[in-house]
Amino acid sequence: MRTQVGIIGAGPAGLLLSRLLALQGIDSVVLENRSREYVEARIRAGILEQNTVDVLTEAGMGDRLHREGLEHRGIHLQYPGVRHTLDFPELCGRRVWVYGQTEVVKDLVATQLADGPPLHFEVSDLAIEDVDTDSPRIRFTDADGTPQVLECDVVAGTDGFHGPSRAVVAEGTRQQLWERTYPYAWLGILAEAAPATDELIYAWHPDGFALYSMRSPSVSRLYLQVDPSEKIEDWSDDRIWEGLATRFALDGWEISTGPVLEKSILPMRSFVSAPMRRGRLFLAGDAAHIVPPTGAKGLNLAVADVVLLSRALVRLLQEKETDLADAYSDTALRRVWRATHFSWWMTSMLHTTGDPFDAELQLSQLRRVCSSEAAARELAENYTGLPY
Ligand code: APR
Ligand code: PHB
Repeated sequence: MRTQVGIIGAGPAGLLLSRLLALQGIDSVVLENRSREYVEARIRAGILEQNTVDVLTEAGMGDRLHREGLEHRGIHLQYPGVRHTLDFPELCGRRVWVYGQTEVVKDLVATQLADGPPLHFEVSDLAIEDVDTDSPRIRFTDADGTPQVLECDVVAGTDGFHGPSRAVVAEGTRQQLWERTYPYAWLGILAEAAPATDELIYAWHPDGFALYSMRSPSVSRLYLQVDPSEKIEDWSDDRIWEGLATRFALDGWEISTGPVLEKSILPMRSFVSAPMRRGRLFLAGDAAHIVPPTGAKGLNLAVADVVLLSRALVRLLQEKETDLADAYSDTALRRVWRATHFSWWMTSMLHTTGDPFDAELQLSQLRRVCSSEAAARELAENYTGLPY
């Protein structure tokens, strides 16, 4: 098998890269080790920046997003006794959409399988070779158990945090790693309950952070800060709803409850690996960096990487110019660090640590964001996504 760009991983990064390249006349093959069902059932984040919506729309992937996605003008920030609304269009002229990453992936998979480049699920034993030459290759075993070799001009490592690509970059470069593991986790539920709020609520509470999000007019997505050692078995639905009701409590307002469709505990970390390139192997998305979910940046950052990478690859493969490919890692990492800082800042402002000094600093910062237009605008610009 031969292709121009061998893409490892059918998450949003790999699938969107394949789509953007196809629109520019560059062929690719996407290799995914999980099944289609698994990839389409994974529940992930749900906030799309304006940039992301624009990219998906221009790539012809906006139909269902514009039909079913929920346009949001802002967020509510809450701390005891106060629920304050930040109006994004007023603060920075931009907005966000609620549309699950799961739905983005379903749309991309459907388009790709209908008339896009090849997409192979359930591949195994994948190995990346010769990335320091102009003809790297990917060896893998296909779903039928047949060994295959995919000869490429470029390999894109969009295989997420646990994929093999980052280690291949590390072997041939002076890799630098930065990591922070936070002393808390999120317990997330998906519930068949109409959201009791127009905008997302980010709530600080002495018991811990809580986030009220949604997926549709009839499905809510809610999160509670818990200790990372907590076991999901110890959290009955009643215990979760009680925790949520306490942390979101506000006079004259109540959360709405309903059957819990899914629940799980998610660890939280910040992680950056540089460079994002070795020779003809380029990393994008979670393969190179992880942000905690508080700033809703993970998916949007993956999309930003892929937009940059697709431009660099068009230039490299069609115009035979290496400038954008050479600049890719540094350019991508500047945005990665901005999002890493913002995500860390939101996380640090909203999650209780048990330390009373931290709590007073957090409340002071929240009061500042809720009273100063300059402070609110800084949050709004980062949250809605800085222009590319
Ligand atoms: N071979 C083939 N595919 C692999 C391999 C492998 N050895 N290892 C991992 N993969 C696949 C995973 O199964 C997954 O489908 O790579 C894909 C990576 O996709 P994501 O984890 O969704 O990462 P990415 O596309 O970068 O999207 C980033 O995902 O985790 C969220 O918050 C994050 O929203 C962000 C987004
Ligand atoms: C979500 O809806 O899953 C969600 C929303 C906002 C966040 C994180 C997750 O900051």
